[in-house]
Amino acid sequence: MADDRTTFLLDEDAIPTHWVNIAPDLPGDPPPPPLSPRTGEPAGPDDLAAIFPMGLIEQEVSMEPEIAIPAAVRDAYKLWRPTPLRRARRLEQALGTPARIYYKWEGVSPAGSHKPNTAVPQAYENLQAGVRKLSTETGAGQWGSSLAFACSLFDMECEVFMVGSSYDQKPYRRSMIQTWGATVHRSPSDLTEAGRANASHPTGSLGIAISEAVEVAAQREDTNYALGSVLNHVLLHQTVVGIEAIAQMEMAGDRPDVIVACVGGGSNFGGIVFPFLREKLRGDRDVRFVAAEPAACPTLTRGVYSYDYGDTAGLTPLMPMYTLGHDFVPPPVHAGGLRYHGDSPLVCALVKAGLVEARAYRQNETFEAAVRFARSEGIIPAPEPAHAIRGAIEEAMAAKEAGEERVILFNLCGHGNFDMAAYDAYLAGTLEDPEFSEADMNAALERLPAAPALG
Ligand SMILES: Cc1ncc(COP(=O)(O)O)c(C=O)c1O
Repeated sequence: MADDRTTFLLDEDAIPTHWVNIAPDLPGDPPPPPLSPRTGEPAGPDDLAAIFPMGLIEQEVSMEPEIAIPAAVRDAYKLWRPTPLRRARRLEQALGTPARIYYKWEGVSPAGSHKPNTAVPQAYENLQAGVRKLSTETGAGQWGSSLAFACSLFDMECEVFMVGSSYDQKPYRRSMIQTWGATVHRSPSDLTEAGRANASHPTGSLGIAISEAVEVAAQREDTNYALGSVLNHVLLHQTVVGIEAIAQMEMAGDRPDVIVACVGGGSNFGGIVFPFLREKLRGDRDVRFVAAEPAACPTLTRGVYSYDYGDTAGLTPLMPMYTLGHDFVPPPVHAGGLRYHGDSPLVCALVKAGLVEARAYRQNETFEAAVRFARSEGIIPAPEPAHAIRGAIEEAMAAKEAGEERVILFNLCGHGNFDMAAYDAYLAGTLEDPEFSEADMNAALERLPAAPALG
């Protein structure tokens, strides 16, 4: 092992050639299928074809263990991949822990997060299908700016519905989206039926913004919809993170005992975890997985496992997932990317099967961890991965208490350079810990769509 190395870098030719598809390795029965919102029957490719190109639909339902990454996508990945793996030596020292902490640093992409890993292949597959324009939602602004960037690479148009609270908190995320040539609207907007129907929610939510973007794509022949998380093909694209991390942990001479990532829709979590999980399921490694989410939007820790719509208006297929109810509007925490009522069906099935442990953290304890990290490692994290940092620090302190040399890996999936309003509030002592409303969740759960019960 290289004793004092901090950064583990791969050459450009180590950019993965294939994505890892976890579906064929999952234990037990296959996950229940998504259901058509029109018929309640299992959704087939036809149900998805109105808004997605066939290339992505094939990836969505594939049972191949690996899927080749198109040459044009690998070429675009060269703009920021492979990303560094770092050992957080200064954080370890600050904590006085015997644990060894590593993080995969995805904030080096042009948009500042892991989101371009899927924005680029999604734009590419749409272009191959002759689609010239994409519509989407964005919570934190990271996904909207990533898709705007990807569309600019392929000379495509892009229209973004940005959740109202983030639109107000992050004016420079809007400017990024516009710099890459895309159009951005505050959601709820008066441009769509879904927006007008939800005008009474001034902060907006991811569920409402998704409805707006889907409505635009379904109505226009030349426009498709792109989703930045939740779906199988999105998590598939993100597995470049975990594939690189396996090689880099080998360079470091260490094997993670636990991997931590935040979960909003599940894509950065699936991206780092699935390649390691596949090895675990094949009996080649022993590792735990921890999903970190906000206490204000505790989908995995407090939601019910049920079929529900992916959006507020009920336009998307019904997915088997933990949900707080599709019209539950989470309080406006700064981790806008984690304000989602549901989660990836794949990640939910793993939580249900006990293969993934979920934990919820409050906003102030999350920022406390983020600031501690910034003051030891230098990088100012986005509020979303600050949840993963909180989880990693908890693991490191537990190792200290147990006198154990635990190896911890977490996904630092984005920087917080455009999130300084949130840091201002934390440093001024005015950051709130919004309460999760059990009553609001119960009311939203009353309105779950009729669907077969899940075991
Ligand atoms: C930096 C960052 N991290 C995490 C997330 C949450 O998404 P996911 O759970 O799909 O990684 C987002 C979503 O916008 C994000 O911008």
